[in-house]
Amino acid sequence: MASVNLREAAERLMAGGEKAEAINTGHPSKERKRRMKKTKWMAAATAALVMAALGGAYAQQQAQRNVNDWLLNAPDDTTRFQLLQRYLRGFDQPMWEVGERFRMIHQALADENWELAVYHWEKTRDTIVNGYLKRPLRQPNSQAMFVDNIFQPTLAAFRAGNSAKAWEAFQTARAACMSCHEAERVTYMNNQALFRLTEQPARPGG
Ligand code: HEC
Repeated sequence: MASVNLREAAERLMAGGEKAEAINTGHPSKERKRRMKKTKWMAAATAALVMAALGGAYAQQQAQRNVNDWLLNAPDDTTRFQLLQRYLRGFDQPMWEVGERFRMIHQALADENWELAVYHWEKTRDTIVNGYLKRPLRQPNSQAMFVDNIFQPTLAAFRAGNSAKAWEAFQTARAACMSCHEAERVTYMNNQALFRLTEQPARPGG
């Protein structure tokens, strides 16, 4: 960056002045003293000029700053990561997505759109895994109650393209969702429209 090079040049100039003084340890002549003085004065003047230029560049940079650069404008990377962490939320947002996808699967089974059911089911697993990436305390129950044993058999049932089997697997999965809510002490999650709706098969076409 140009500004960094300017700063380096200024520092080198200042250091040069100090070095010149250090070398002359004996009894310097009057002429030598005068030259040294001149060198130091020039170094200081150049440094002042460079500083002024740097100040101007900084002001220009500030003026060009885009207020929408919410990450780029943060003072350092730690602050940027804190902003990202806050923005990416916790387990709630993945669960919100999981709930929506579960509703989509419910309808996809009624429409016998097995590919769509498989699609949403795979995204459901990814979403839960991404959820405990952010909230590791949710990982043990997520794995034990969903990822490690419920996910695969349900996927196989949806792929098989058999309505009765698919519906049975869906009910087993629904029970797993609700058990995890109990295990994670958010039992009130089970008392909502999504779980009443998914108790019975949907009508084809919605
Ligand atoms: C780790 C066990 C666990 C599993 C497995 C699980 N959930 Fe959740 N769910 C939670 C927790 C914990 C919350 C509350 C999140 C919070 O408070 O941040 C929640 C919240 C929710 C919410 C409310 C989200 C909101 O903010 O609107 C819905 C809907 C939901 N879950 C649906 C499901 C469905 C459907 C499944 C199964 C496909 C499922 N969950 C599987 C633990 C789980």
